[in-house]
Amino acid sequence: MQLRPFALERFFARYEFSVEHVLCASDCETRSVRDLAELEPDLPDQLMALRLGYVDSRGAPSLRATIASIYSSIEPEQVLVFCGAQEAIFWFYTALLESGDEVVVHAPCYESHLELPRALGANVRPWFGDPQRAYRLEPAQLSGLVSARTKAIVVNTPHNPTGYAMPADDFAAAVALATDMRAHFFCDEVFRESEHDPATRLPAACDLSPYGVSLGVVSKTYGLAGLRVGWIATKDRALYQRLAELKDYTTICGSAPSELLAEVALRHRERLANENVALIRSNLDQLDRFFAVHSATFDWNRPSAGTVAFVGYRGGDVDSFCHDLVQQTGVLLMPGTLFDDPNNCFRIGFGRRNLSAALDRLQSFLRKR
Ligand SMILES: Cc1ncc(COP(=O)(O)O)c(C=O)c1O
Repeated sequence: MQLRPFALERFFARYEFSVEHVLCASDCETRSVRDLAELEPDLPDQLMALRLGYVDSRGAPSLRATIASIYSSIEPEQVLVFCGAQEAIFWFYTALLESGDEVVVHAPCYESHLELPRALGANVRPWFGDPQRAYRLEPAQLSGLVSARTKAIVVNTPHNPTGYAMPADDFAAAVALATDMRAHFFCDEVFRESEHDPATRLPAACDLSPYGVSLGVVSKTYGLAGLRVGWIATKDRALYQRLAELKDYTTICGSAPSELLAEVALRHRERLANENVALIRSNLDQLDRFFAVHSATFDWNRPSAGTVAFVGYRGGDVDSFCHDLVQQTGVLLMPGTLFDDPNNCFRIGFGRRNLSAALDRLQSFLRKR
């Protein structure tokens, strides 16, 4: 398999740990081990007593039971834990696809959803969000994209990079189409539970269809990317079995301390998510004010879920804008060209506490221009 360098991750590798303000992160404000110990005061004792051997390659049974409780109809043996969402994405496509297969993929999108199917020789049929309608996925287009060779329909909602969240009817229709075709519906739900109004939360794909595959992770909504704990939940036993076999070739099993900490966090995930969504909402209010002042330069659509939005830039070339900004101010925005998007947008992230300080610098940069 010939994989191209992952443009977004290479961009982060260059800047993430050297700039002062990452203003394009997709994860929420991170938590410390101490923060988690405040949720369960015996956590330090649990950590000290933990034996550092291999763990169950499917994920510790108690962790899988905690993850299963997120869903309405999933058993612990239908949950498979991976090293982050990324490892799960890697093995999902590898397990499913052969050369010549087709897969419909939400676009623009997180690169591995496009690049892995391509590298496996599959034909990727992008299902593009409409830039004129806040990157809405048009349900009527989907039936024209599928064929007898379609192995999976892939959707990421809430969406990175646009902040788009699928309406429930559109989501149900897409799941139903995949189910009728006996194709998998692979839903990247890594931003689930970060809906700004919890009433808009969609059901999980794994609860809706025997072919539904939900991808989850502790990285984004709960701010725990350093644990590298992700998972797939599915009722498809054959797929589950194949994924479990393949995982032996990468990580074999997870890290015992990470699994313990992830389990504690997920037991309290409602509280963690509520605190993060409160921060997101107050950051969005600031962004509303900022973009109202700069409406001649930027096109801003306030998203209803997640931690990122795609902002249109009207002041010239977006790559040069992001480049000059980071060089002159240490504020990092992510040009949409990294997602192969041609609409002169950048991704902004609003799940972190640094937003005010970063916006102040952006403001003075704009004034100087
Ligand atoms: C939509 C989406 N899926 C999957 C991932 C991978 O998540 P992780 O870094 O937790 O493995 C990311 C990371 O940015 C993402 O944005």
